[in-house]
Amino acid sequence: MTSPNLLQTLDDLRQKGLRELEGATSVEGLEAWRVAYLGRRGELTAILRNLKDVPTEERREVGARANLVKGALEEALSQAEERLKAGRMAGLASEERIDVTRPGRPVAMGRYHPLTRMVREICDAFTAMGFQVVEGPEIEWDKYNFEMLNIPKGHPARDMWNTLWVDYKDQAGAQSMLLRTHTSPMQARVMEGSGGAPVRVVVPGKVYRYEATDATHEWHFHQVEGLAVDEGITFANMKGTLYEFARRIFGAERKVRFRCDYFPFVEPGVDMSIDCFACQGRDPKCRICRGSGWLEIMGAGMVHPRVLEMAGYDPGRYTGFAFGMGPERIAMLKHGIEDIRLFYGNDLRYLRQF
Ligand code: DAH
Repeated sequence: MTSPNLLQTLDDLRQKGLRELEGATSVEGLEAWRVAYLGRRGELTAILRNLKDVPTEERREVGARANLVKGALEEALSQAEERLKAGRMAGLASEERIDVTRPGRPVAMGRYHPLTRMVREICDAFTAMGFQVVEGPEIEWDKYNFEMLNIPKGHPARDMWNTLWVDYKDQAGAQSMLLRTHTSPMQARVMEGSGGAPVRVVVPGKVYRYEATDATHEWHFHQVEGLAVDEGITFANMKGTLYEFARRIFGAERKVRFRCDYFPFVEPGVDMSIDCFACQGRDPKCRICRGSGWLEIMGAGMVHPRVLEMAGYDPGRYTGFAFGMGPERIAMLKHGIEDIRLFYGNDLRYLRQF
């Protein structure tokens, strides 16, 4: 091999190498290129290794040129590596670019449970008429749940409420604690605590019954109790108040109906119905009123003199009315819901409708 030839070979190698390097656009490509040129069996390495066979007088020049080529290829390689790295970073950055025109992902909106809303709606109707909202304990004494409401121990009227008793006996050995079966015990508690002053309250809250569950029965549900006590309160005041309530909840066109009913803590006692807002009594197959034209929405009555007396009011001077309703039932009527269990099923498809 003569030196001009060898020098030429080195220059060609350099050119070829640089050209090929331009085509290497991946990490793997660059590595293959490095192996082919600069690796232990690479083309340039072979020439360098054979330098010892080059005649002495040429060796210096060829050696110098070979080192130049090697330097140039190494430099080009490291630049190509830098470029690749920079390119990949840029690529990443472009993937991550924020597209400000892209529509946002909708955030699921929280909402109140239909019963929470119903209870509030009921309470609002009464607070607008001057009632206060109070709450009471869910674990209650026999005394308030029954006795102070004119339902003494052993009275058959206790059978109206299938009671869940708490496993607790008082000093006399009597089972005296229970999960309240209605919100009515708050009538006694409020009157007892008011020191004989006039009362206008509504009491929302949970109640419990020893009950088999079906489409219209739950073992736990809600009630809203109401109580107004003052001098000169009449049955007409009660009718007016409840009529106004019915119109607020079920629409201004409502008619109301009161029929005699029995609750031990009121006299007279009534149940109150509204005319069917769905069919006005015209559809014998109505899903809401089942053709009767009337919907029972609550029990009510004039507070029994015994109840006033036990709570410290003079029944000769004070009168009052009381009422109690189930928000589940009212919501079911209002929205045409056919199964009370849906309220507690936690099914979002149902809950999202409200
Ligand atoms: N506490 C009764 C129940 O759970 C409902 C009720 C009826 C409440 C008449 C009252 C009332 O205040 O006057 O069945």
